Amino acid sequence: MKTALVTGITGQDGSYLAELLLEKNYRVVGLHRRSSTNNFERIKHLVGKDNFLLEEFDLTDPSGINRIVDQYKPEEFYNLGAQSHVGTSFKQPTTTIEINTVGVVNILESIRNLSPKTKFYQASTSEMFGRNFTIGEHGEKYQNENTLMLPQSPYGVAKLASYHMVEIYRSSYNIFGCSGILFNHESPRRGENFLTRKVTRYIGKLVKGLTNEPLKLGNLDAARDWGHAKDYVRAMYLMLQQDSPSDFVIATGKTRSVKEFVETAFRLANLDYKNHVEIDSDLFRPAEVVFLKGDATKAKNKLGWVPEISFDELITDMLQYDIKNV
Ligand code: NAP
Ligand code: GDD
Repeated sequence: MKTALVTGITGQDGSYLAELLLEKNYRVVGLHRRSSTNNFERIKHLVGKDNFLLEEFDLTDPSGINRIVDQYKPEEFYNLGAQSHVGTSFKQPTTTIEINTVGVVNILESIRNLSPKTKFYQASTSEMFGRNFTIGEHGEKYQNENTLMLPQSPYGVAKLASYHMVEIYRSSYNIFGCSGILFNHESPRRGENFLTRKVTRYIGKLVKGLTNEPLKLGNLDAARDWGHAKDYVRAMYLMLQQDSPSDFVIATGKTRSVKEFVETAFRLANLDYKNHVEIDSDLFRPAEVVFLKGDATKAKNKLGWVPEISFDELITDMLQYDIKNV
């Protein structure tokens, strides 16, 4: 039986990846940081299951990571833990760098010194491209593995530094390290302060008659390439099953504005967003990634990965959950 360590186990992706690995008969060791309140909501159905273990740690504490890597010497290590909110990274830049950059170096050092055969997955991001994109032969705009990365946020900078560190450990020490350059992916388990979930939760409350307040949002003009987290964790797994390590863009290849997301979510619930949304200038970021559209051709050709869940199916999944559970 293979063992996989997964950081960020209490987060959206960690919970879906753990399910996938357990189905594939892995022993999954979920790494979580201590919290004064219970934050196992997303993994409560896994706690107590055979082959699902939990270990306490913190990405900023190298000795704890060393202890766990030395104890398990896992076949695979998925680093999904992060300060993952772009807006927050402007308010907490130092913490963001400590968790999202130094934390990754802590793991890479641990693997290099204690378990060099462990295959490593790093949760990189389309936020690393910042405002940059490639212009194709027919004038189409997109980002792929060859697009120059020019991040626009402390989060993007922190993730770009760790992306380069993975490449350095791969080329210098022969570590099997892969970065998945994942575009935005959502689900009913998405954190409540990200755009999509904020919208679907609000609609859930509206439908249930639980709010009379308007929904306050920031920039509606930015464009994102949105997929479903269930599709995206499958790509993470596939990357570590290859014979040699590489980096992959994972995206749907379709782009929509924030306004289109909002409009569609309200429409699918038979509502008109114009009657409920208010713009709040405090929610604008000091700098914004304006346009994201991923070209995942490499993942399709080398991993056989294509997304299976459409934009409308994603929103419907989130709406159904939030209308039922709000
Ligand atoms: P998420 O729901 O915000 O989960 C983040 C996880 O990181 C949580 O389990 C959190 O634990 C943990 N964490 C935060 N600080 C930590 C620390 N100091 N030590 C240990 N664990 C810590 O994020 P997600 O959406 O699942 O994303 C997973 C990864 O993919 C992240 O690295 C994110 O940056 C990256 N990513 C996400 C997307 C996306 O669209 N979702 C796209 C590209 C890349 P607590 O529960 O204790 O807070
Ligand atoms: N969160 C949030 N809240 N975003 C808003 C709001 C609001 O009230 N109003 C407008 N937006 C806009 C943001 O300015 C951004 O343009 C877009 O909605 C999406 O914001 P988020 O859902 O917070 O996601 P993100 O694109 O900034 O970052 C996510 O995707 C990255 C990959 O591109 C996160 O999951 C990152 O961790 C991930 O790396």
